[in-house]
Amino acid sequence: MQRTYTVDRHAIPAHMDVGRIRRDFPVLGKKIEGKPPIYFDNACQTLRPRQVIEAVSEYYESFPACAGRSVHKLATEVSLRCDDVRAKAAAFFGADDPSEIAFMKNTTEGLNTVIMGLPWRKGDEVVTTDYEHNSVHVPVLRARDSFQLKHRTIKSGDDVTFDLSAFEEGMSRKVRLVAVCLTSNVTGCTIPAKEVVDIAHSYGAKVLLDAAQAAPSMGIDVRRLGVDFLAASAHKMLGPSGVGLFYARSGSVGDLPPVMCGGHGVVDTTYDSYKLLPPPERFETGLQNYSGIIGTGAALDYLSSIGMDEVRDHEIALNSRITRALRGVDGVELLGPSDPNLRSGIFSFNVRGLSPHDVAMILDNSRNIMMRSGMHCCHPLFHALGIEGCARASVYIYNTPQEADLFSESVEGLAEGFKGRKR
Ligand SMILES: Cc1ncc(COP(=O)(O)O)c(C=O)c1O
Repeated sequence: MQRTYTVDRHAIPAHMDVGRIRRDFPVLGKKIEGKPPIYFDNACQTLRPRQVIEAVSEYYESFPACAGRSVHKLATEVSLRCDDVRAKAAAFFGADDPSEIAFMKNTTEGLNTVIMGLPWRKGDEVVTTDYEHNSVHVPVLRARDSFQLKHRTIKSGDDVTFDLSAFEEGMSRKVRLVAVCLTSNVTGCTIPAKEVVDIAHSYGAKVLLDAAQAAPSMGIDVRRLGVDFLAASAHKMLGPSGVGLFYARSGSVGDLPPVMCGGHGVVDTTYDSYKLLPPPERFETGLQNYSGIIGTGAALDYLSSIGMDEVRDHEIALNSRITRALRGVDGVELLGPSDPNLRSGIFSFNVRGLSPHDVAMILDNSRNIMMRSGMHCCHPLFHALGIEGCARASVYIYNTPQEADLFSESVEGLAEGFKGRKR
């Protein structure tokens, strides 16, 4: 069924030229099986603009050496470029000093660094939400078992939103770490981070924010938040695959050891001892992904030139459009709060009578609409909800209202077509 949707206050910000942005993304100009791709899997990985691709290629073509070790000209160039990206990342997140930023391979590595590395004492408690990504959840369970900790999950509300009062009630002086996702990869909801940090600190606990979904979608100011640790992935924010950005506040990091140790992260070693370098170098063991780090600099430039408020407004405008179109459609079940302003660029849903994977495959086969389906690495949440997962559409800066409408029409058509079907 063909429908038109009016856009009112959720119009795309006038200063954000989506047409121009789209021309920067080579894959959007290609046809896949005769049709343009509609890429709605941005919460997994975003696409990359040519500025990032060129920065990666420039590394391989012009200075394909290593940083921080050799003293020759090519290596010096790489060192300078990486230092520059570190400074950009510090500015992007509002860190006091570039030394508070370490390059890793993804968010997961940053999360593991803190969760496995803190100087735990038997009986310490760690607090998470009940909808954490496995990248928080699994290392927390591992640390619980290795260090004899207690793990407490904060129960979220019916619409899978963070419950600040439940969090506050669950706090005590035994809590050593609060490890929570800033924005959920299932619902797109963001926690009141400043309040969480202030409450946690008042009990003497440290806070680790999983910013894998938040960093691509909103401005984050670590200094204003006062957060101790934060981890994000460049590949979710227009950067190359396999680069993580880890923030550790200089006053909080202490002697936190790296997950891996070996070459480069040490001041000196003898036959029976070693001394780690201070952060961030201690976290950057072994040869690094230099092309990826340099490409990340181009990604941060790209996002900064748009502005994170504009990125957020654009995501919410598209999500509002989709939500309005599908609200009340029989057979479409939204996961999370109904208000799209709370869900950033994420629309997670099920179509009654179909499995999440069926929904994703049908939309891919019929319309080239590419989404994610399944449990989104949040198995405990889906087990608790008693459902086998959901389909997730996640939009980003290059997605258009037309794509959003095509998606909504397709989902509505599916719901209509499978009405009354039981699985
Ligand atoms: C909320 C959240 N945390 C952590 C991760 C893990 O990110 P990475 O695989 O880049 O380490 C993801 C990935 O989707 C995520 O959505």
